Parts: sequence; structure tokens; C-alpha cells
Amino acid sequence: MRTLRSLLLILACLMTVRALQLAAAPRALAASPSPALPAGAGQPWWKHAVIYEIYPRSFQDSNGDGIGDLNGIVARLGYLENLGVNAIWLTPIYPSPQVDFGYDVSNYEAIDPMYGTMADFDRLLAEAQKHHIRVLMDLVLNHTSDQHPWFIESRSSRNNPKRDWYVWNSGGPANAPGATPYQKRFEHDGMAPPNNWESDFGGPAWQWDPRTRQFYYHKFSVHQPDLNWNNPQVREAMYNVCRFWLNKGVAGFRLDALEALFEDPELRNEKILPGVDDYGDPNEDESRTLDLPGIHVVLRQLRKLVDRYPGDRVLVGENYTNSAKSLLSLYGLHGRELQLPMDTQLGFIDKLDAAEFRQKIVEAEHGLGGHVPLFVFDNHDNPRSWDRYGDGRHNEAIAKILATVLLTTRSVALMYYGEEIGMVTTPPKTRAEVQDPLGKTGWPKEKGRDGERTPMQWNASNPQAGFSTNPKTWLPVPPNYKTVNVQTESAELGSLLGWYKKLIALRRTNPALRDGKLLMLDRHSNSILAYVRTGPNGTPPVIVAMNMSSRAQTLSVRWNEVAGASGHVRTLAASDPSLRSVSSLRSVTLPPFASWVASL
Ligand code: NOJ
Repeated sequence: MRTLRSLLLILACLMTVRALQLAAAPRALAASPSPALPAGAGQPWWKHAVIYEIYPRSFQDSNGDGIGDLNGIVARLGYLENLGVNAIWLTPIYPSPQVDFGYDVSNYEAIDPMYGTMADFDRLLAEAQKHHIRVLMDLVLNHTSDQHPWFIESRSSRNNPKRDWYVWNSGGPANAPGATPYQKRFEHDGMAPPNNWESDFGGPAWQWDPRTRQFYYHKFSVHQPDLNWNNPQVREAMYNVCRFWLNKGVAGFRLDALEALFEDPELRNEKILPGVDDYGDPNEDESRTLDLPGIHVVLRQLRKLVDRYPGDRVLVGENYTNSAKSLLSLYGLHGRELQLPMDTQLGFIDKLDAAEFRQKIVEAEHGLGGHVPLFVFDNHDNPRSWDRYGDGRHNEAIAKILATVLLTTRSVALMYYGEEIGMVTTPPKTRAEVQDPLGKTGWPKEKGRDGERTPMQWNASNPQAGFSTNPKTWLPVPPNYKTVNVQTESAELGSLLGWYKKLIALRRTNPALRDGKLLMLDRHSNSILAYVRTGPNGTPPVIVAMNMSSRAQTLSVRWNEVAGASGHVRTLAASDPSLRSVSSLRSVTLPPFASWVASL
């Protein structure tokens, strides 16, 4: 009897603790899954997601100042839901001097008034949820703005408690025997920077601070001093930032510049490579300032932190790895680091080459330890895929091929606003027009990233393409807005936008496209990329074939290669009308640059 009573007591205690835990649990955002196949048992929402990157300055202006804002995004949630987007990633919207358009953060727990207020942000979260869309924030971990109170304190004196929050160094005498010509060039009062490290924004990575007579390190612009991630207080401060946004209900983070968090503790020189970069600096290999092992410790800590929140919060990595092996390392041992490091190997080949595409897709299938790849073709840092892959004549058909790869492989799809309508890169014509700091220092060789950040083209109702009512938008609207815009393409049969919508809908509803394995077909073709997605639980497999050449190509697939297939096919999506009536795998001819998706 006594044992029973003790057991009951323990049970009651446990229930009370659980009830308290639940009451204190941070709000699970979690937009309920949108109407599609039910999320598989135990499968997190992001596993099949389409994530849409929004560059808030350029998406939709609601107050007529020529710059996009949060209320503008709210106004366009219906469009995003209709497109089939599951989550939006907002590039930084925190208060910032905007030297690097938000990637120079001066307060991590507020909203820049240019974009709205915290109440607007809360409304965006709530409205997005109604549209079944989750919101991911951009977390700028590596550096802050030089106007952030942490840095203002840090630079105020050598013995300020926050001095060690950043990377300070006294350098050495410029006339020391070992000083390189590059170090000597950036000498101040006889003192040279400690080594030859260069900033990604041009020039040296060390900035002399006359007040305290030391250099501070900045991988990016001089207004973006690097935080010292070896300092536990820095980590804790940044983890608190994460908690702040997770408690609000965001679905996760895109981790900016994560490869740059640590530097060589011995401050050894980078290896010099042949040639100079667009800023006139010697090329360097960056092995002392990128990808140091410490990042894995931080990623594990961050992952533990987000995993404590309900709703499968996700970590997306900004990383430009050059092998499946290094990409795999970012998922971490037993998948304890990032859920979704960006796989930039496929999307930035910059060449429409069936053999290379095949190789990268196979690597992602078999070289990532079964983890879900995150494919991406476009973002705010690179010329648009339309221009990198297009041949100038068949760009729309080629854009449909890229969309097909992005949306029918076994990957999470990361899109960038405007990609779905075929927005083109529109770089500034003169230096005076340039907004991006990269373009300012690199002109004319490096024109900067303005070209891929132009306002979203919604319609042809006004010269601002429906983005703003202000005749002066922060970047000019590309002249092709009259034909390349959401409204026109929504009404057009066979438009790129229609293609995206169709494929997104298919990947949500077709079991093979959603959960099937991927097997390559026609493996030796240099022109055709073809694969089958096997049908789980006896559902019909789906074949996907694309012709990456300017000549018609016949698909050579032995239909019996495809388990369970009878050779009869039913077209689900075809970029060329001639493919709509294909009924047998025995004779499929793909017109130049055609894409075809069919159920077997
Ligand atoms: C990567 C961001 O995508 C880019 O826009 C930014 O300039 C750098 N990180 C520095 O934050």
C-alpha cells in the first residue's frame, strides 16, 4: 500500500513538473502544415519545404518611401501561399547603419524603423501562420556593425570589459624583417597589421584604430568588426539573441557567414595564390580565416539550443563548400549540427552541363549520409541564375530546367524572390549609381550585388512595377518589368511562374516526388539529365527528364530499369506542348532545352 502511495506521489510530481514545463514552453510557431500530403510521421516540416528568400528592401514597399518593408511582405503573403512556399527567410531586418544593407547589425533584438516596428513583425508572424508560412530570421553571427554598443564599448579602451569581444591585435613594426610588402603597405605610425589577411570587401582585413593604437579584424567591410567567438560571453550573448527570436515563434535561422567565425589562433599568413582579385589585392587561399574546426562546436551548441524549442526549428547554413565531404561535415556527427547547410555545388556550377549536374545530384544523394540536401540557384550575393545559366536565346526554357532540378530532386528547395518570374541581373551602369559597398570599392571590375537585388516586379501598373508608389525606388526597376512580372505571368499559359507553381504543387502532392528515392537514368548522356523518383508504398514512380542541349534528343531509357513501371506514362508537366501527349517511354524525344515530368 505504501509502495502504491509513493508511486502515485511520484506520478503526481512528474505530472506537475510536465505541466509547468509546458506552461513555460516557448510558443511553437509552427504554422500548421498546408493542405498537401500529411507530413510523414516523425518527419519535420522542413524536410520537404520550399523556402523563399526575401530581400525585404526589394520585395514590397507599403509606405511609399521606395524601400520594401514588413507590411509590404504581409500584403504579399497570399501570393506566397498560392505559389506553395512553406517558409520565408528574411535577410536582416534589425536596426543597422545599412552599410552592408542589414548585415551590419547595431541591435539584434529590434526592428529597423525603415522596415517597421516590432508590432509589425509580430503581425507578420501571425499573418504568415494563417497562410501556413513559417518565418526564418537571418542571424549575423560573425560580426556586428561598428555602431553596435558592444563594439563602441570594445573600442573605447584597451581594458574595457568588452575589449575581448572583438579581435584586436597590436601588429608589429613595419620594418621588421618578416613583414610582407602587403603588410608594409598598410602600416600606421610604423606599425603594420599582424599578417596579410584580406577583407572580402577589398583591402586589408585589419583596421587601425588610432585611439587605442591597435588593429581590429574584419573579414567583411571595415564597418563590420569580427566578434571573438573564443570568448564565452560573446557566445552567450548571441545565444540569447537566438532565444529572443525563438521565443517570439520564428521557425529558425539562416546562419550568415558561418565559415568565417574563427581565425587561425597563431595568425599565420594566408597562402598567396597567383593573380589579383577584382579589388587589385593578391589572391589568397583563405585557409587561415575560413572553415576552422571551432565552428562545429558552435553549431552543436546552437543546435542543442534550437532543439529545446518545440516545432522543429531549423538551422540553415550559409556555406560555400566545395566537396560533398565538407558539406557532410556541416550536418555534424549523428546529424547534431545543421539540418540544412546550403549545397552550393550544384546551383553555382554556372554551366548547363548534364554530366556535371548528374554528378552533383548523385553526390548529394549518396555523399551526404542520407541527410536532406538544400539546393539553391539564386540568392542576394550572386548574379541571377537566369544570366549565369542562360544562353541568351533559350533563357526561359533553361530557367524551367533549373526549376525542375530544384523542385523534383530529393532536396529542400531554396528560392530567391523573382527567380520564379525570371528576373534578370541588372547591374548599375555607372559607379555613381552603385549602392553595394562591394561595387563601390570594386568598380568597374566588381560592380557589386545591386544587379540581383532590384525591386520585385509585381505588375505593369506603374513604372515601379507595383513595388512602390514612389517614383524613386532604392534601386531602379529593370526595364523589362512590363512583360516580366507576376500579374502578366499569372495569366500566361506556359509561363515560368506557372511552371514553378505546377512543380511545387506536384512535389507537395505526389508521393514519389515527395518521398521517393532518386535513381539516375541515361547515365552516359552529355545532353540529357534524367532520373526516376521511385514510388513509396506501391505508388507510381515519376520520371523526370531534361534536355540540356540545343538539339532534340531521344531519351534512351530501358523502361524495365524502373521497378514497377509498365512503360506507359502519363505526363504531369511538360515545358513543351509536344510532350503533353507522350504515352510510352519507348519513344520520347525531348525538344531543345525541354523539361518533362511524367508518372509511370
Ligand atoms: C553573407 C551575406 O549573404 C552577404 O550579403 C554579406 O555581405 C556577408 N555575409 C557579410 O555579412
